[in-house]
Amino acid sequence: MAETAQPVTMETIVSLCRRRGFVFPSSEIYGGLGSTYDYGHYGVLTKNNIRSLWFRAMVQERDDIVALDSAIILNPSVWEASGHVAGFNDPLVDCRTCKLRFRADQLEFASCGRKPSKRPGETPDCDLTEPRQFNLMFETHVGALQDESSAAYLRPETAQGIFINFKNVAQLARRKPPFGIAQVGKSFRNEITPGNFLFRVREFEQMEMEFFVPPADATQWFEYWLDQRLTWHRSLGLREENLRLREHGEAERSHYSSATSDIEYLYPIGWQELEGVANRGAYDLTQHTQHSGTKLEWIDPDGNRYTPHVIEPAVSIERIFVALLCDAYHEEVVGDRERVVLRLHPQVSPVKAAILPLVPRHEGMATRARALYEELRRYHVVEHDDSGQIGRRYRRQDEIGTPWAFTVDEQTLEDETVTVRDRDSLAQERLPISGVRAWLDDALERDWSSPQPD
Ligand code: GAP
Repeated sequence: MAETAQPVTMETIVSLCRRRGFVFPSSEIYGGLGSTYDYGHYGVLTKNNIRSLWFRAMVQERDDIVALDSAIILNPSVWEASGHVAGFNDPLVDCRTCKLRFRADQLEFASCGRKPSKRPGETPDCDLTEPRQFNLMFETHVGALQDESSAAYLRPETAQGIFINFKNVAQLARRKPPFGIAQVGKSFRNEITPGNFLFRVREFEQMEMEFFVPPADATQWFEYWLDQRLTWHRSLGLREENLRLREHGEAERSHYSSATSDIEYLYPIGWQELEGVANRGAYDLTQHTQHSGTKLEWIDPDGNRYTPHVIEPAVSIERIFVALLCDAYHEEVVGDRERVVLRLHPQVSPVKAAILPLVPRHEGMATRARALYEELRRYHVVEHDDSGQIGRRYRRQDEIGTPWAFTVDEQTLEDETVTVRDRDSLAQERLPISGVRAWLDDALERDWSSPQPD
């Protein structure tokens, strides 16, 4: 195998996603809607896998975390109390010449609308307004009346739905601190400068967990969760050299946070936040207690009352999705042919195996391949492909990251075995057809790390 290792660009990933139907621009027949995307078949399967791996690590395999699914539109007082109405702002400047809008704190990364494009403010023609605060929440109305009294917001984070349910869950789930509440769902932000594909979008799926702890233990739990989450990202196969931790300085921290560290990934656009882990202290439960009049506190068996502190790991499926594709993408030459291969962790890959009759017109091969496919699809997402030359079928599967292909050939008809081809090593071995299902179950549970060359 000859390697053609080039740093992957965001354009390459966007083009693969489009070509293979992972993700495409939304509302395309109407000219699109800036930075919104729709997921096709393989994109949905990949997102489902990311979500369920997160849920498995954060809820299913733990005794101390329970799940929640709260509403997207909450009583607007929630956002007053949380500080989002007053403080969830980005500073914005407009250019009176090119009519574009920029984040005042990120002008160095922006391009102005004139040709050749420069940084906003760099040319004498640029005419920037003074920065003004722009609230990122999308506003809507509840009910038939559209006035101030009916105004509400699409949630900009899932976290607040958790805090307002603290009392319900603590009582009903019979949990005591330290314990956590986990939630996955859509969040919405009217980002001023969305972009870089799915990295910064206006509608995204957050996976957040609020971990309630005795105040004296907060620092220790903060370190614990930082370590757990970094380990989890490594377990998905993200390469060590592309992951790092970065602690926020005081000025950078959100209004609620007493400590935040980002797990950063080396995206094609540079080191950027993949996941944030924050020590939110008692801020949210205190705010909701004051605004709602309901005491959100914990009373221990000795009758001591306290407001638990909160440690929060928060990430979006979108940022993981982009990181995984960038990490996995590779072009190489095999024999005299080029192949694009997505070396995804098998548990993340949208399709777990392909079942291929070597000669589709051969009735014996076709029948056996179809029967194997129908057996396996009851347990895993697998594909049956009988169109085109076998080499092309392998390459189609490589491009979507299918880890294994089972091929039914002449020998199958003689000895009831199939070949299994490994996406990463290209090694082939023979297996009894009756053992394929157990082999696949085992293979999917094995540890996996990226064989990607540096
Ligand atoms: N509850 C805390 C919170 O929402 P955040 O740092 O604003 O904190 C948490 O967001 C995570 O959500 C980020 O680390 C990132 O993974 C993801 N995220 C935030 N804004 C996003 C956007 N516009 N597009 C995609 N993902 C986003």
